[in-house]
Amino acid sequence: MSDPKKLFIKTYGCQMNVYDSERMSEAMAGAGYVETQSPDDADMILLNTCHIREKAAEKVYSELGRFKALKAGNPDLKIGVAGCVAQAEGAEIMRRQPLVDLVVGPQSYHRLPEMEARARRGEKPLDTDFPADDKFDTLRHRPKALRGPTAFLTVQEGCDKFCTFCVVPYTRGAEVSRPVSRVLEEARDLVERGVREITLLGQNVNAYHGAGEGGEWSLARLIRALAEIDGLERIRFTTSHPNDMSDDLIEAHGTCEKLMPYLHLPVQAGSDRILKRMNRNHTAESYIRLIERIRAARPDLMLSGDFIVGFPEETEADFQATLDLVEEVRFASAYSFKYSPRPGTPAAERRQVPVEVQSERLQRLQALLTRQQRAAQEEMVGRTVKVLFEKPGRQAGQMVGKSEYLHAVHVDDPSLAIGQIAPVEIIESASNSLRGRCIAS
Ligand code: 5AD
Ligand code: SF4
Repeated sequence: MSDPKKLFIKTYGCQMNVYDSERMSEAMAGAGYVETQSPDDADMILLNTCHIREKAAEKVYSELGRFKALKAGNPDLKIGVAGCVAQAEGAEIMRRQPLVDLVVGPQSYHRLPEMEARARRGEKPLDTDFPADDKFDTLRHRPKALRGPTAFLTVQEGCDKFCTFCVVPYTRGAEVSRPVSRVLEEARDLVERGVREITLLGQNVNAYHGAGEGGEWSLARLIRALAEIDGLERIRFTTSHPNDMSDDLIEAHGTCEKLMPYLHLPVQAGSDRILKRMNRNHTAESYIRLIERIRAARPDLMLSGDFIVGFPEETEADFQATLDLVEEVRFASAYSFKYSPRPGTPAAERRQVPVEVQSERLQRLQALLTRQQRAAQEEMVGRTVKVLFEKPGRQAGQMVGKSEYLHAVHVDDPSLAIGQIAPVEIIESASNSLRGRCIAS
């Protein structure tokens, strides 16, 4: 038997892409490939790209340029571009960079083996169609190699919201939910193989409305069904839109013990004028009221958010409204970005805020968010949390895991096992993690 061929995948961007890269690796395992950690000895290189950040396409082209020497040394090397840049740029990628052998969009990864075979015959396959068939049905969703006791599970893809800054509705297409039975089947399989925490993934995961017994199920109903799986201890979900936080999902935060008290709920900005221009369809006030309701259901909930500063036409007063909202709501963690125009999205056509102004505002916002993050960590000192241990720490005898609130917690205790959930008293807050000691349960 010949040696297996080697596949190198480089993943950019969100958790959805991390998950997709695993699916691509599995699809290619069927075509005789094993994954390698270095591009140097690869027979195939796949770049799983992200289109969210600034100059994403340019970065992909410069990364591809670096593979020129590799390809010169190994003419059999095949190079593919996947992900959202592939979806957005399509055939343009092969025109601009002839090194590229195939281009595949996120809806077509199950066709990769057949595309690779065509590339080996000297063709240049391109597949960025949105599916006529159900991609969720054709994709094999069984991860071969699990990375510890936590796993992601995609339940929903795409988005119908069309925020005016965002490419997702164009690159990932319309919102699609996976049927309930498939999700439960995959979850049970993960748990049988040792997974204790599942994070449900989707670009707009709380809009989930998968087909289930008796009609369409909401995300809350799906979570309640997942909570009945013995051995599954923790459930999380990301990313959500405020307008899809339905009553039953809010209630689940109070009633479902396995649903963790941490919520990523992007608000993007605090000025109603800007929120309107972003097509967010909510106001600062409605967001604040929503958070109050969720906290009423689960008082210890820790909140995380996404923010965009320097959106077109944002004034100092608009920006101040974002700071005010952050002061009022208090975030345990957050991601904040300077607005950057995405060709083809409405906001790209608007009057832009100068980059110096954007940078200065971002600094002020990040200073505030960092203070709040530190405060949320400090608050944990002296408290007892439950930690799911995921891997050994950097120091000998140390283990690292996550608390219910998604804080990384280090514990010096060699008797701890990966996958164990243990009560830990927090004794110290470091810059991005906590330190604690195990206490008897
Ligand atoms: N510019 C800056 N940030 C953006 N995001 C999405 N599109 C843009 C853009 N054009 C941010 C949003 C989103 C997160 C994933 O990325 O805050 O919630
Ligand atoms: Fe993009 Fe999220 Fe808005 Fe959808 S809801 S358009 S994914 S920012």
